[in-house]
Amino acid sequence: MVQSGIIRLLEEMTLKEKIGQLQQLPGSCFEEDFVLTGPENFMNFTEEDLILAGSVLSITGAGKLKGIQKRFMEKHPHHIPLIFMADVINGYKTIFPIPLGQGAGFNPALTEAGARVAAREASAAGIQLFFSPMADLVRDPRWGRVMESTGEDPYLNSVFARASVEGYQGKKGRDGRADLKRKGSVAACVKHFAGYGAAMAGRDYNTVELSERTLRDEYLPAYQAAVEAGVETVMTSFNLMNRIPASGNAHLMREILREEWGFDGVLISDWAAIGEMVNHRVAENEKEAAFLAIRAGVDIDMCTRCYAGNLESLIEEGRVPESLVDEAVLRVLNLKNRLGLFEDPYKDADEEEEKTILLCEENRAEARKAASESFVLLKNEGILPLEDLEDAALIGPFADSGMIYGAWSIFAEKEDSVTIEEGLRKAGWKGRMAAGCVLSTDYPKVGMGGAQCFVEKDEARDEKLLNGALKLAKKAGKVILTIGELNIMTGEASSRGMLDIPSMQMKLLRKVAEVNPNIITLLFTGRPLDLREIAALSKAVLVVWQPGTEGGNAVSDVLTGKESPSGKLPMSFPYCVGQVPVFYNEMSTGRHYEPGNPDQFVSRYADIPNAPLYPFGFGLSYSKFEISEVSLSGDTLHLGAGDVLQASVTVRNTGSREAKEVVQMYLRDDVSSTARPVRELKGFEKISLKPGEERKVSFTIREEMLAFTGSDDRRRAEKGSFTVYVGNSSETENSAGFILS
Ligand code: GLC
Repeated sequence: MVQSGIIRLLEEMTLKEKIGQLQQLPGSCFEEDFVLTGPENFMNFTEEDLILAGSVLSITGAGKLKGIQKRFMEKHPHHIPLIFMADVINGYKTIFPIPLGQGAGFNPALTEAGARVAAREASAAGIQLFFSPMADLVRDPRWGRVMESTGEDPYLNSVFARASVEGYQGKKGRDGRADLKRKGSVAACVKHFAGYGAAMAGRDYNTVELSERTLRDEYLPAYQAAVEAGVETVMTSFNLMNRIPASGNAHLMREILREEWGFDGVLISDWAAIGEMVNHRVAENEKEAAFLAIRAGVDIDMCTRCYAGNLESLIEEGRVPESLVDEAVLRVLNLKNRLGLFEDPYKDADEEEEKTILLCEENRAEARKAASESFVLLKNEGILPLEDLEDAALIGPFADSGMIYGAWSIFAEKEDSVTIEEGLRKAGWKGRMAAGCVLSTDYPKVGMGGAQCFVEKDEARDEKLLNGALKLAKKAGKVILTIGELNIMTGEASSRGMLDIPSMQMKLLRKVAEVNPNIITLLFTGRPLDLREIAALSKAVLVVWQPGTEGGNAVSDVLTGKESPSGKLPMSFPYCVGQVPVFYNEMSTGRHYEPGNPDQFVSRYADIPNAPLYPFGFGLSYSKFEISEVSLSGDTLHLGAGDVLQASVTVRNTGSREAKEVVQMYLRDDVSSTARPVRELKGFEKISLKPGEERKVSFTIREEMLAFTGSDDRRRAEKGSFTVYVGNSSETENSAGFILS
């Protein structure tokens, strides 16, 4: 529809209709059996809400959504279509590795391809907008939602946020927007704005305390990258920012997001986040919460009646100008228009297409590639790759489990997964398998899955399972041991104080190690864990995260050597939970500790090392790589001159296998007007080399890469000396220096 048509439509709408556009209802309200007076109606939605709503979340199916849209538009006074939104964060039916695993892949092209697959599958099922990418910086693995992030680095997260947005929406055109009418595209929603990943003590929904500089220089860049990539919507976060909840925070939403960044898309609250300002005790009631939110520029109220129940009276009382509501409604109508919903309210919903593309071989192949590149080899005492599959026994509760995808894979079916056992069988493995213990957690109420995963203890059963596994382990040459966190132990509302795996799995590992030292541990996890004992008892440790639908095939590809592991840690694995938060891009402090420094009065622990067990950017390969000294194209950059420097290395595969290496470039501002991290990732390139092959890898250093929020609160680079590091982990000391003059 032409813009004038949208304006005319807005002018014709009643105030109630306009407020309706700002209300999002849960999909359950549109299910056939939804009873307005039933328990499902937990937010007391009304008949009028169901007639005037603007959007719906978490419902899917081409036929179902077309039926809902048709009936809805017939009843709506101006026949304005709904937008169907859903959490599709790592695939729709073909499930990809969790975002933390995709971050480990250091291959944004695979993430963009995976996002395209998800958009094609879900749009065929009628979904038109994803609540993805999650671009929260994370530094505390006790927080269950680290699995939804691509890790602890602002630059890495920015690269992946952009890749996801472009995969979902397509690349933006000259008008600064992607063509959402293109078949197989969906609108994206970057979340959770802002700083949700800094929840104090890793406890979900907890307070966030960040300085403005830390917020701007470390936590905001990835959201901004999504906005620059043309993301159509932004979701507010549950947390405080400077003691004001994000959903009522005009500094975040109006000043930074809309005025500084020029974002004019739709801002949607997180689930009930507007109403939760009453719980934060910054609003006396839902009416005051609605007042704060509309003033802060939040357009859509997700799943409460704050807007529907209060905006009209706020306007009548003259506390909210109707123009604020009009501004929000116009953004929602423009989004629907960009999606082409006024011409085609069903967009790509197509029952036939749904049948042919969901989980098709092409999509599975993409997922398999993404999974194999996400795995991180942390230890390998010459036991991998498996030359002879035959003498390996497969043991552990994940061995034949289909639940090898992330907790937010809400449309996944475990029957669609290729299990580890199936993947190995397809590779010709004829060995024997034993679960060894049940797939359960140590506590009944955990995470998004809650009690459904908790299996009561049963001595006889547990003894039988364990003995069966030990019998196998005794006879096998090697043991492939599948252990780790259950997927529902991570995700929303899944914070943990311990970074361990369920105790019955640790018992299994210890007992197997007593009878067979040749253990290859496949670690399923949605977060960094304390791996000291697991690594000590294993000859090899391969972190497979939650690999998704093709997990079994990807594991088989890597274990057999068809693919060499190439993942690098996107988040530090701590020595123990007491070390958390631990991250590579820390500050120097006034008493920096270097290992070996005998001085007692430095920033260190008396009982544990400062260094994580495994650092950001670390990951082994089946081959070996040599990286030459850094050579710089010059030793000076000139402020404001727009010139660049090239930092180059030559990488050589000195091993016997073709393999991939992730060459990483870090910069350090040696002296600056505010304290800066000891180093920051500013570039990476994943290259594949055959044995003996070498290649020059160059990184361009530009002035804007050196910019930060200075002591005068202005963002810019400062003259002075800089160090550039190039290597294959954040611990590289391969460096050279240059001056910004
Ligand atoms: C949840 C999550 C958010 C999700 C939304 C809709 O509470 O915080 O990430 O997109 O609600 O399900």
